[in-house]
Amino acid sequence: MDLTFWLLLASKVLGISSKVRQFFIKQASSEDCQTLHIGESWISHSPFTCQLRCISLYSENCQAVVYNSQTGNCTPGSNAFGPIGQITTSIPETGSSDTLYYVRQPIPPCNTTNNFALYDVCGTSACLYLSTSVADNYTHTRSICSQMNSRLFVGNTMAKFTLFMYTGKTYMNVDSCYVGLQDIDVEGNFIWENAEPLSDEQNQYIWRLGEPNNGNENQDCADAKHADWPFQFGLYDGICAAKRHFVCERCEHC
Ligand SMILES: *[C@@H]1O[C@H](CO)[C@@H](O)[C@H](O)[C@H]1NC(C)=O
Ligand SMILES: *[C@@H]1O[C@H](CO)[C@@H](O)[C@H](O)[C@H]1NC(C)=O
Repeated sequence: MDLTFWLLLASKVLGISSKVRQFFIKQASSEDCQTLHIGESWISHSPFTCQLRCISLYSENCQAVVYNSQTGNCTPGSNAFGPIGQITTSIPETGSSDTLYYVRQPIPPCNTTNNFALYDVCGTSACLYLSTSVADNYTHTRSICSQMNSRLFVGNTMAKFTLFMYTGKTYMNVDSCYVGLQDIDVEGNFIWENAEPLSDEQNQYIWRLGEPNNGNENQDCADAKHADWPFQFGLYDGICAAKRHFVCERCEHC
């Protein structure tokens, strides 16, 4: 662990806030922010050590913990925006005496040149460009984003992915939109635009039922159909040669 990690950790921990559960309890079917169970619980001596362990295990995926002060039971959570069909577990459970603690997420700097803007959903922010017209193909979106000093959107955490769905739905609402995820090189091996492989956890919930299916054996680029949500949530794999809208993300290391 380098110093930056610990400084980030410290700033995150200082940003902890505690909320009464009654106010924040949300079911997965609601169209609102919710806290989702992201892993096995453990015993911690305090909400503080509970959060430290959650951050060290889950890094930026840890956005909240649910803590029971009587038993010391600590459950790691991520924030997301619903409704998300594939997810049925939201925490804390109705009727429990557990407390939800949010781990504050850093707000990224946002250079608004080229019509970028900062979007925030459920406490997670990203600096985005939402296309107003279609690009010719996936490669084309890459060069457009790159020319604007950005990259195609990377939805590698549950919170970021639902931020993308919510923002796309609210401000674009198109029926076809590229996101920075493809399996062009090795079929079935999806890679985000920051070169990170799609995690097993993300793989479980970002796709629509029956997707990705590599239909006609040439569907290698993820396609979001925001207009179908909340009726249907998640991505298709589509062809990379289609004209689609797209979302670019500007970040420090793009
Ligand atoms: C993608 O679109 C760009 C811009 O129109 C074009 O130059 C390029 O040939 C296209 N690539 C593919 C693989 O179709
Ligand atoms: C903002 O981004 C533009 C385009 O990438 C760049 O030319 C400009 O220098 C940036 N401004 C700041 C303050 O970083």
